[in-house]
Amino acid sequence: MEDIQTASTPKNITVCNSREEGSLKVAELIANEIKAKQEKGENIVLGLATGNTPKDVYKELIRMHKEEGLSFKNVISFNLDEYHPLAPEHHLSYHRFMDEQLFNHVDINRENINIPTGICKVDDVEEHCNSYEAKIESLGGIDLQLLGIGRNGHIGFNEPGSEANSKTRKIELHEVTRGDASNEFEGLEHVPLHAITMGVETITKAKKIVLMAFGKGKAEIMKQAISEPMNSKVPASYLQTHRSIDYILDKEAATLLSQTH
Ligand code: GLP
Repeated sequence: MEDIQTASTPKNITVCNSREEGSLKVAELIANEIKAKQEKGENIVLGLATGNTPKDVYKELIRMHKEEGLSFKNVISFNLDEYHPLAPEHHLSYHRFMDEQLFNHVDINRENINIPTGICKVDDVEEHCNSYEAKIESLGGIDLQLLGIGRNGHIGFNEPGSEANSKTRKIELHEVTRGDASNEFEGLEHVPLHAITMGVETITKAKKIVLMAFGKGKAEIMKQAISEPMNSKVPASYLQTHRSIDYILDKEAATLLSQTH
């Protein structure tokens, strides 16, 4: 695998030749973290993401499980977010997504899977969010957080306006986010208005973060996320000072970076 690394590219930004290369690299990184914990007889807490971006990572992890015996028995997972309201059985829920893209194909223990619920009663949302946060804490925090990025700079569903100290909570979805989801929901009117998402702080507390961005549609927001001063208009910008973050981009998503570094 050949990474395109120019002298001006910071070390933690890897520009890969293609989405496929980037995905293989991330899958390998995750597998190595899982195995390192297994060797110590420990569990690993993974923060997982949905969207198109991580699909090939999950595909490769499944291949590693089937062909190379990679086990997920020591994995405890926390997903970033879920639409609200949306039943887990809904074909576009993130529960379904995770089952179809990863969980149904590997040996993870079902009781180790955590995803915010999309069917929580409005009155119970706060308690649900607090206990999600507390459960992550009680397990020692997230070891490795996988992230995509929305075209408006959201991470998870931390929409523009989300502050650095935000925690797991219910959030109103931004018009760009709902617009981007309108095709798969077959009409904007069918896209849920809200979601439950881990907060920016929940994410930045992770020991390691990997953010992936592929395709030219992510070029402008990656430029802002990496090179503009940290601000709540681009929640992903709050990752800049994280002690261990890797940005994995393909060439298209990185096109505007050379102008700024
Ligand atoms: C959704 C998810 C995010 C994801 C983003 C980008 O809004 N909540 O976690 O990063 O979409 O999606 P995609 O990877 O399809 O571009």
